[in-house]
Amino acid sequence: MTDLHKVVADEAMLWGDAVAEPYHALAASHMDSQWAGLIAPALDGIDVDLTRSADFACGRGRNTLKLLDEGAKHVTMIDVNAENVAFCTRQFAGNDRITVTQNDGLDLRVIPSSAFTYLHSFDAMVHFDVEIALGYLREFHRVMRAGAVALIHHSNYSERPGVDFRTNPHFRNYMTADLFRHVATRRGFEVLRQRIFSWADLVDGDCITVLRKPAGEPAKVSGMIDMFHGAIRRSMRGM
Ligand SMILES: C[S@@+](CC[C@H](N)C(=O)[O-])C[C@H]1O[C@@H](n2cnc3c(N)ncnc32)[C@H](O)[C@@H]1O
Repeated sequence: MTDLHKVVADEAMLWGDAVAEPYHALAASHMDSQWAGLIAPALDGIDVDLTRSADFACGRGRNTLKLLDEGAKHVTMIDVNAENVAFCTRQFAGNDRITVTQNDGLDLRVIPSSAFTYLHSFDAMVHFDVEIALGYLREFHRVMRAGAVALIHHSNYSERPGVDFRTNPHFRNYMTADLFRHVATRRGFEVLRQRIFSWADLVDGDCITVLRKPAGEPAKVSGMIDMFHGAIRRSMRGM
């Protein structure tokens, strides 16, 4: 088991049956107001195609239901927690507009490339370890179609580096808006918008970043980079 697999085992599994009522049921009752107050304004004026949406770190599906209401034709729910995946599989059995998928907490190898026109993650990545959150950006880029938009709600809390995130206000993990923007840009995204906001009494501790995978992303460029890396490897073998 790698260090990061251990982090997933220790930290990512907190949000299952044990918090069915205190978190999942309560959060579901706030979905409409959070959509209206945080999510809709973050997407306002941006051309978003919900046709094939992903609800990443979906929990028990409150965002999925909202995405379907908002016009998504299909939502792929993705989560690492087996209890949430089992719950959603039961809850949405027979709904052919929903697919429930379990991942390993670190990557999206269970999802084919260019699967989504929209990728959504709300009220989950605020808790992720910084390396795991940033690691997912490469995978988000891979599973999004050219031109697709992602809305990612993440932490902007950096006051206590190194501590266990469970000792931070509202379980916010270490992250900044700038760091997220920097790595997203490196991964090939356009950063369309970042909105820093307060969560209850935690002032400016959260951020919603809206990303776009550039339209017509030239497959040639990555091909050229691969060729370039291949050439470097070949020349190094010859050294
Ligand atoms: C606080 S819940 C939020 C669920 C949902 N987004 C919502 O708004 O109701 C956090 C979710 O993130 C999932 N999660 C935590 N770490 C994860 C990881 N590394 N990869 C994928 N999912 C993860 C948990 O299993 C849980 O379902």
